[in-house]
Amino acid sequence: MSVARPLGPADVDSAAKLAALEGAALWDAAAFAHELTLAHATLVAVDGDDGTLAAFAVWWRVVDETHLLNMVVAPGARRRGLGAALVAQMLDEARGRGDVAALLEVRAGNRAAQALYERAGFSRAGLRRGYYADGEDAVQMVRSL
Ligand SMILES: CC(C)(COP(=O)(O)OP(=O)(O)OC[C@H]1O[C@@H](n2cnc3c(N)ncnc32)[C@H](O)[C@@H]1OP(=O)(O)O)[C@@H](O)C(=O)NCCC(=O)NCCS
Repeated sequence: MSVARPLGPADVDSAAKLAALEGAALWDAAAFAHELTLAHATLVAVDGDDGTLAAFAVWWRVVDETHLLNMVVAPGARRRGLGAALVAQMLDEARGRGDVAALLEVRAGNRAAQALYERAGFSRAGLRRGYYADGEDAVQMVRSL
């Protein structure tokens, strides 16, 4: 498995397919293409050994904070440290430019992602009721840098 590289225009369809596996309907190819035009957005990709997209992550810099917007590891590539590596890369980038905190929202029922973020030093900071389109609550998590 290769290390993360910038996600580019050629990846938007594969990234949207990966996002769709998680029911993230708003993250279609056009949405990824739009993110690529934003100066405050970082998009990274990891290639699988078979050349397909194994993972992506998208984060934004907002003033002096970094917000993780989305991250998906392909089902066949999970539990090999890819998600943790992408979060570590985000935190490195954020620290490098002097950000004070990293933030994210995660589905209240998504224990796997919450466990990953807790191991990466994030703590629960609040609950946003009905945050997702299907009505599920979001847990807000934050990590000081
Ligand atoms: C959450 C997700 C990104 C984790 O990616 P991953 O590459 O499998 O995670 P890692 O292998 O880096 O796991 C790091 C740690 O997180 C925790 N973790 C990850 N998946 C877990 C699971 N299914 N159950 C419990 N803990 C889990 C573990 O502590 C794990 O360390 P360990 O494997 O040594 O026990 C992946 O499951 C995924 O894409 N899920 C669907 C999309 C999603 O939930 N994205 C996050 C949206 S906020």
